Amino acid sequence: MNDFIKIRGGKPLEGTVKISSSKNATVAVLPAVVLASEIVKLYDVPEIEDINALIFLLRKLNISVEKNDDNLTIDPTDIKNVVLDFDEVRKLRASYYFMGALLGRFKHVRMLYPGGCNLGPRPIDLHLKGFESLGARITTDNDMIEINAEHLVGDEIYLDIASVGATINIILAAIFAEGRTVIHNAAKEPEIIDLSSMLNKMGARIRGAGTSDITIIGVSRLKGCIHDIIPDRIEAGTYICLAAAVGKDILIENVIPQHIEALISKLEEAGAKIETGVDYVHVYESNDLKAIDIQTQTFPGFATDLQQPITPLLCKAKGKSHVVETIYPERFKHCNELIKMGANIECNEAKANIYGPVQLHGTKIRATDLRCGAALIIAALMADGETIIEDAYHIYRGYEGIVEKLKGLGADAE
Ligand code: EPU
Repeated sequence: MNDFIKIRGGKPLEGTVKISSSKNATVAVLPAVVLASEIVKLYDVPEIEDINALIFLLRKLNISVEKNDDNLTIDPTDIKNVVLDFDEVRKLRASYYFMGALLGRFKHVRMLYPGGCNLGPRPIDLHLKGFESLGARITTDNDMIEINAEHLVGDEIYLDIASVGATINIILAAIFAEGRTVIHNAAKEPEIIDLSSMLNKMGARIRGAGTSDITIIGVSRLKGCIHDIIPDRIEAGTYICLAAAVGKDILIENVIPQHIEALISKLEEAGAKIETGVDYVHVYESNDLKAIDIQTQTFPGFATDLQQPITPLLCKAKGKSHVVETIYPERFKHCNELIKMGANIECNEAKANIYGPVQLHGTKIRATDLRCGAALIIAALMADGETIIEDAYHIYRGYEGIVEKLKGLGADAE
């Protein structure tokens, strides 16, 4: 696979783009299959690198995974709890869901620490405290972490931060725990609802997913199920930003607009012309954009994952836009690349001021992480001349068929 994407910008784009299933839901659902005693079928699984890494790890656990187009048939009946010391663990953050899932199923897990995008410090202390509250003991040596429990017993767990990962990992570990687990200050992201609804279909007893108090009543076994994963709200948000930046008339299909209300309302405040339907968002040509202020928040606030893709658009908006990043204070590496393209951005201590309008110019830039890559794609489409985005592998981790989707909208991309 070529490790760069080349884009000739300045072309208005139009047409229809279909959003894939959610990466961040799928990366939780796949490790959750470890808890099942029967076959699980998943529809419309996105063909992205993070999913390929998780499928590799499932197979290492002796779980059979059959691909049929975009559908997966996963059979965990012969599962073996092996040490997960493979490079794939380090390729993505979500490999840490094997901690909760294997702990839940076997009361024992030994694996490498997870990897994932470099967004500054990404501790997992809340996950580990949650496991300990359920009765687990944790030891670490070098890059390995080992978690053991005699019994897992439900408990009341208060999360200091409404962490998506900790909420999911504690749910996974608590499915077979004795009695009742309550997670207070749980994250409310839609991916948690999707995972919980799949687990409940399999026989789990999870109540309150999507609210800040989630209750899990322990059960002894999970059966199989068939599950359709929700559309990817971050991919949808990325194409909406792209459409508002360089679109003439773009229809974005397979979207749950309620999942991206904060983005849509901010874009409308900036002057973008957007219409939403039950499962689509239509973005019309949007000119004379004006500066806006953004503060990232947990769901249903403005998603940190969309803070990067919206930045190029703000380069086009008249005035000073102010962005405050409250989730990952260091998630601003895209700004340095945009500055190379001519953007006027001041960035320090979790804040950025973006001055516009500015015409971006094509040049050689580097995707430093997944959503940085998404931002650079939008910037390259806005820029005059040719842009080469290096280290495009970050982008393939989370955006299915991105070059084909861009070409489908008329972009000059390869
Ligand atoms: N945090 C802690 N301790 C913990 C866990 C989290 O201090 O034990 C802090 C983090 O450092 C961060 C904040 O809490 O400052 C929120 O982190 P969270 O745990 O919610 O994030 P995550 O589960 O690691 C998921 C997504 C991210 C997305 C964030 C926030 C997955 C696999 N990843 O990460 O997605 O940015 O939630 O919504 O679901 C992406 O898709 O590009 C991506 C990075």
